[in-house]
Amino acid sequence: MAAGAGDRERLAELAREFEAQVEALLVERRERRVSPVADVTASLLHERGEGRPLRIEEIVSILRNWTVGEVGTIAAAVGILAGYLANNPDLQRQLRAEPGRLPYAIDEILRLDGPLVANRRRTTCPVTLGDHPIEAGQHLSIVWIAANRDPDVFEDPDEFRWDRDPADNLLYGAGIHVCPGAPLARMELRVAMEELLRATTWFEPAESEHAHRATSPAAGFERLPLRMHRD
Ligand code: HEM
Repeated sequence: MAAGAGDRERLAELAREFEAQVEALLVERRERRVSPVADVTASLLHERGEGRPLRIEEIVSILRNWTVGEVGTIAAAVGILAGYLANNPDLQRQLRAEPGRLPYAIDEILRLDGPLVANRRRTTCPVTLGDHPIEAGQHLSIVWIAANRDPDVFEDPDEFRWDRDPADNLLYGAGIHVCPGAPLARMELRVAMEELLRATTWFEPAESEHAHRATSPAAGFERLPLRMHRD
C-alpha cells in the first residue's frame, strides 16, 4: 500500500484517481437526472447547503470520507482482531466458549491497537489543552492510538482488561464528529469475528512467514499470514 511506504506523491496520485472516478460517476448521474430517492449518492446531488446545491467537489469529499472512513478502518480492524486472537490463545479460547463477550472484547482490542491513527483539526479560537496554550488557527493532530493508551485514564494501558469503562474508549472519536458509522462498524466486526470463530476450530500465526505491520497513516497489517484449523 502506498500509504505504508510513506509515498506522499503516489498517495496524492491515488487521491486524484479516486476523485476523477467519483466525479465522472456523479456527472453522469446528474446528466441522467437520477432521482434523489434512488440511493444516498443520488440524494447528495440534490442536497443543498448554505442556500445552494452542493458542488461536485464537495460531494466527492463527502463520499471520500464515507468510503475511505469505512473501508480502510474496517479492513484494518479485521486484521488487527484476527492477529490479536491468533497471538493471544487464552482470549481466543475464551471467546470461542463465550461469543457473547465479543462486542466488549472487540472494542478493547481496538483500543489497544487502533485501526485509525489520527485525525486533524484547526483551532478556531485560543485554547489550552493540558498545560499547553494553543493560538487560534493552529493545525493539530488528534492521535487516537495515543489517547487510547493514556495511563492517566487507563490503568495498565497496554493490557487487555475486562473491567474497563467503555465510555473512556476513543475508538470512534468523541464530540460533534463522533463516528456516525460506529453501530454499523460494531455490527460488521462482530459478525466477521463470529464467522471466523465459527468457521475454524483454531487459528494461529503461520510459522513459515512473518506478519508485516502497515505504517502510518495506514494501520493494522500489510500482511498477516495465519494458519487456520478445522478439525
Ligand atoms: C472500526 C471502524 C471505524 C473506526 C475505528 C472509525 C473511527 C472514526 C473516528 C475516530 C471518527 C472521528 C473523526 C474526527 O473526529 O475527526 C470517525 C468519523 C467518521 N466516521 Fe468512522 N470509524 C469506523 C467505521 C466507520 C464506518 C463503517 C462508517 C460509515 C458507514 C464511518 C463513517 C464516518 C464518518 C462519515 C465520519 C465523519 C463524521 C464527522 O466528521 O462528523 N466510520 N470515525
